[in-house]
Amino acid sequence: MNDLFLKALRKEPVKRPPVWFMRQAGRYMPEYRALRGKYSFLEMCHNPELIAKVTQLPIQRFGFDAAILFSDILVIPEALQVGLHFDEGKGPIIDRPLSNARDVDNLPAFTSLNYVCEGIKLLKQELTVPLIGFCGAPFTVASYMIEGGSSREFKKTKQWLLNDPESFHRLLTKLADASVEYLNSQIDAGVDAVQIFDSWAWTLGHTQFKEFSLHYLKYILDRIKKVPTILFCRGSSVFAEELASIQPTAVGLDWNADMLKLSAKLPTAVQGNLDPALLYAPKETLKKEILRLVQGMQDRPGYIFNLGHGIYPDTPVENVEYCLDVITKSCVKS
Ligand code: CP3
Repeated sequence: MNDLFLKALRKEPVKRPPVWFMRQAGRYMPEYRALRGKYSFLEMCHNPELIAKVTQLPIQRFGFDAAILFSDILVIPEALQVGLHFDEGKGPIIDRPLSNARDVDNLPAFTSLNYVCEGIKLLKQELTVPLIGFCGAPFTVASYMIEGGSSREFKKTKQWLLNDPESFHRLLTKLADASVEYLNSQIDAGVDAVQIFDSWAWTLGHTQFKEFSLHYLKYILDRIKKVPTILFCRGSSVFAEELASIQPTAVGLDWNADMLKLSAKLPTAVQGNLDPALLYAPKETLKKEILRLVQGMQDRPGYIFNLGHGIYPDTPVENVEYCLDVITKSCVKS
């Protein structure tokens, strides 16, 4: 078992930083696109054999040091029966978005997702790297359920939380309870670590971030079984110290942050934060930026190399290969 990732999470010495990419199992890979020609995205998410197969694609092809479960943060709303589909080019669509307190009270109880746990059990028989389970943060998942899909301004979500905070909190509590149950079922099935994605936290002001996002991240951390935890949000360059204050194992930083400066203020392990757009750059620019990041972090225990957000679907695969080549060959301590 390759244990670089788990060692870095424990802030133990490693010969080079472990590397994995957010959204590494996805459309930038021709092998993934070939499978997508045969199945819809949700069909793939529901099928344990395909979950196992897709999760392993980037490990087999590029040799990442950790695998992230192939699934989506929106499987919880799907299980809560708000209707989920993916429109080509538009991203996720929620068919019956929530708009008031009554909609929250009418949500069914969440029961765990067997197909995900079956996928994890298959993976654990085959993987030679640690497996990361995940869920979306309650605030981010709630925004999708209210906006009905991706949004630019999150007006409906913000109008709701400002005008009826009580029912908004009720929704967040329901989603946090579902997340606890869901993550615990992933942990029981065998994941080695979990990451919580708060992709839309950056839309919140500081006070509201604490009340509507951070509080529920802590609620989840306090209730899940003991595995290493990683918190990632867009906006982590602003909210990193607050995220670290609730004691996850690691904080994932977005690419706006000066990794070295900010990580010096954090007691946790840290993960990140190459701008995913650098994977479009000429190789020499890419190499220079990777080396700048890794050499800057070389004396900082507990550093995991990752992107500052998910990899773009049109990223050239040869640049992903090159990135791993640079880290595994030019970033090894003598
Ligand atoms: O990281 C991985 O490789 C594991 C799988 C994973 C997916 N989504 C697969 C996926 C993970 C961890 C996610 C998380 C996720 N999903 C987030 C949080 C991370 C982030 O990027 O901020 C969010 C906000 C979602 C919701 C979601 N799912 C969106 C906005 C989209 C559309 C994206 C787009 O560019 O069209 C998805 C679809 C999705 N999730 C795909 C994949 C591989 C593409 C589906 C396809 O094949 O068409």
